[in-house]
Amino acid sequence: MDLKDHIRSIPDFPKPGILFYDISTLLRHADAWQVAMGRMARAVRAHQPDLLAGIESRGFLVAAPLALKLGCGFVMLRKRGKLPGETIPLDYGLEYGTDRIEIQADAIERGQRVVVVDDLLATGGTMAAGIQLLRNIGAVVPAAATLIELTFLQGRSRLDVPCETLVSYDS
Ligand code: PRP
Ligand code: MG
Repeated sequence: MDLKDHIRSIPDFPKPGILFYDISTLLRHADAWQVAMGRMARAVRAHQPDLLAGIESRGFLVAAPLALKLGCGFVMLRKRGKLPGETIPLDYGLEYGTDRIEIQADAIERGQRVVVVDDLLATGGTMAAGIQLLRNIGAVVPAAATLIELTFLQGRSRLDVPCETLVSYDS
């Protein structure tokens, strides 16, 4: 199955000139979603994770079912102010300004192997921040994984771990 048949591209979203790769059509197609999760599971299992960390919001859609399939736990990397209790933040640069992701301070035990999961790798800024935050609280990060990679943005070059991806677009 070619998963690209189930991913829709929408021009000029969220801004003029941006081509948005929409996974809604993949998520709502039961067979295609099963295939996607099966392929992701095979790729991610090889890195022997104890936990998967999903990046809010769309990363949760991928990471939670994948963790269930792999029989490992799932932890959340959330946007500012969403997590209760003690949290550890990481600020990272955007094209204009900065953004912040947070994790609960007790989300992982030092030395646990955590694969970071998102829906899409674009510039790699979000994924690099996720990896750094996990390392800051003592995780070992053997790999990252996304459904989609926009290869023309070279996000992979910002990562110092392998990134498993299922579908790539070169424009
Ligand atoms: C999108 C996408 C990735 C990130 C990739 O998230 O889901 O998380 O951007 O971009 P990058 O590689 O250039 O950092 P977005 O911030 O749009 O939010 P959402 O997941 O909540 O929809
Ligand atoms: Mg996102």
